[in-house]
Amino acid sequence: MAFDIEMIKKVYSRYEERVNAARSLVNKPLTLSEKILYTHLWDGNATETYDRGVSYVDFAPDRVAMQDATAQMALLQFMQAGRPQAAVPSTVHCDHLIQAKEGAQVDLQRANTESKEVFNFLGSVANKYGIGFWKPGAGIIHQVVLENYAFPGGMMIGTDSHTVNAGGLGMLAIGVGGADACDVMAGLPWELKFPKLIGVKLTGKLSGWTSPKDVILKVAGILTVKGGTGAVVEYFGEGAQSMSCTGKGTICNMGAEIGATTSTFGYDESMERYLRATGRADVADAANAVKEHLTADAEVYANPELYFDQLIEINLSELEPSLNGPFTPDLYTPVSRMREEAAKNGWPTKVEWGLIGSCTNSSYEDLSRAASIAKQAVDKGLVTKAEFGINPGSEQVRYTADRDGLLKTFEDLNATIFTNACGPCIGMWDRVGAEKQEKNTIVHSFNRNFAKRADGNPNTFAFVASPEIVAAIAISGDLGFNPLTDTLTNAHGEQVKLDPPTGDELPEKGFAVEDAGYQAPAEDGSSVVIDVNPDSDRLQLLEPFAAWEGTDLKGLKLLIKAKGKCTTDHISMAGPWLKYRGHLDNISNNMLIGAVNYFNEKTDSVKNQLTGEYGPVPATQRVYKVAGIGSIVVGDENYGEGSSREHAAMEPRHLGVRAVLVKSFARIHETNLKKQGMLGLTFANKEDYDKIQEDDTIDILGLTTFTPGQPLTLVLHHLDGTEDQILANHTYNAQQIEWFKEGGALNIIRKNQVK
Ligand code: F3S
Repeated sequence: MAFDIEMIKKVYSRYEERVNAARSLVNKPLTLSEKILYTHLWDGNATETYDRGVSYVDFAPDRVAMQDATAQMALLQFMQAGRPQAAVPSTVHCDHLIQAKEGAQVDLQRANTESKEVFNFLGSVANKYGIGFWKPGAGIIHQVVLENYAFPGGMMIGTDSHTVNAGGLGMLAIGVGGADACDVMAGLPWELKFPKLIGVKLTGKLSGWTSPKDVILKVAGILTVKGGTGAVVEYFGEGAQSMSCTGKGTICNMGAEIGATTSTFGYDESMERYLRATGRADVADAANAVKEHLTADAEVYANPELYFDQLIEINLSELEPSLNGPFTPDLYTPVSRMREEAAKNGWPTKVEWGLIGSCTNSSYEDLSRAASIAKQAVDKGLVTKAEFGINPGSEQVRYTADRDGLLKTFEDLNATIFTNACGPCIGMWDRVGAEKQEKNTIVHSFNRNFAKRADGNPNTFAFVASPEIVAAIAISGDLGFNPLTDTLTNAHGEQVKLDPPTGDELPEKGFAVEDAGYQAPAEDGSSVVIDVNPDSDRLQLLEPFAAWEGTDLKGLKLLIKAKGKCTTDHISMAGPWLKYRGHLDNISNNMLIGAVNYFNEKTDSVKNQLTGEYGPVPATQRVYKVAGIGSIVVGDENYGEGSSREHAAMEPRHLGVRAVLVKSFARIHETNLKKQGMLGLTFANKEDYDKIQEDDTIDILGLTTFTPGQPLTLVLHHLDGTEDQILANHTYNAQQIEWFKEGGALNIIRKNQVK
């Protein structure tokens, strides 16, 4: 499967020197997170200290992982870089585009037909550029990465927010947008704000019904969906060591739900066992040789309050299983209080479905513990009240679970075994009757439970729990059922109680698989041809953006003056548009359709200055483009907050917007604009926002002497013949000015390749 042991050994070989250099520089003991950060500095040994939560730092990640939905634009951009191969080991995983409906076999076949051109495209790009390709059905990206690629002390980026799952194997793994993945594959540094550090000390030991999922459900309840923002969460303590590696993965996975940059655990025996069980004894040996560096310095965990920005302590022995939800993953309710809470809040208690799977909880251990509950139900004569759906995390997990009879146990309860893929977790679930939008309750072992997430029905109340709790509650069909204390009536009218779950951390007979679904790339991919049908509505090869014409920009029409919040969702909406992620021209038809026009308070309605008529933003911009007229977008505070979606910067660039002028930017979006060769400017005087009028034509002056730190001048030509002159600041450094001049960062990379 081509995990790169030589690369891993190379990373480990620099640990001692770099950790020592960082320790003497910061002059105090180091957390694990700091060790991983400092050993992955782009410039080598640390020469300066960084302010947590403030400094932006360049890093050199070891790996890149991409899922099929986000990989499309990442790879289309990467193709523009002109490199023969990805600069770091990278993989693509086909898991998001497979709908769950009738069961694995039929569903997978249908997906292979419906998304054939996307899968073929991804497969051929991977083949050409030395990228590992995991076919549809091979498994969910984060389970496959944990099984094959994650390694203690490594740094990885991935084009999916749950990339953080690999923290279960001691990595710093971080979710990014496609533009970042493209940069790293193209051999560029990756920039991250040096994170704050939250320590979570786990004392005691899990037992009975309580599982690692309950740890993160509790943490989510404490920190809420925003509490981890900008921070790495580092777990430690005897409780951490007592948990399995995949259990640690579950905890790190849902770090995304508290907004954390990522989460991680120090290297321990559970990780070693997992590495050996998944065929990576050489990685375990290499990690053992540097193991003192793969966890924090002892003083840190002895006096954590001195070294973390925030500290939380959880006693696992006292932890109760819980359900979080509905509609938000931080609404924490222990099972013992659920009946009362449901009655108080009017949550429907009849449970319709129990879903087990997703990247959060689809390991062998998860399935085995849930199966132990399912087996009891059969043995004790219980009939399931809710329907059951299972998505194994990978083909290796599925094959092994099948061999060991776990899947048969679920099938005995009439469960449907769906494809090893995301399925209902990403709304790829053709649930019968969902269109009726009836109020109903489901329980699942996933991570997210926002309205409509699983089945598109805004009235589905989804509760997140561990697989074993999901199994018990689905069997009872009652949200208020507490398996620790309550009994159920079986088919013979007897009262029976479920015993606590049992399971295997790792399969006793070892993992097995016939065809894991991996396609290795060609040794020499230079002759591989990438076919994209020019008539395709889902894929479109990118053309390099044009270089700057070398003059000031004059006669730009105001496209929209956006009012208030304008997130990347307002700029490039998700939902049905996700289908066009690989087709820049088609997805550009959603450009800024969510932004509120300052002048009429409407969305997707702007004045076309050439005709005087109001129309949708994308269509109006296309008219300017055809007429060869540039335009400018004006925005409010924190413009472009939200996701790192590069489409939000590429769409305006593609449609001919020349500059975005705002009161302030969300930093990632500002960088994305710069990468695409756009001008991202801020009002030197925020009140000048009020000077922008609906019929303005705008000149941007000073570009021929565009210099770091020097503001540009804008002349606003108003319809009544008057003018205003205002100053616009920018944060372009010398390199970024080159990006602007060349028409985008990728144009420069390609030029350097050709040299
Ligand atoms: Fe897939 Fe859901 Fe995870 S969409 S990657 S299973 S969060």
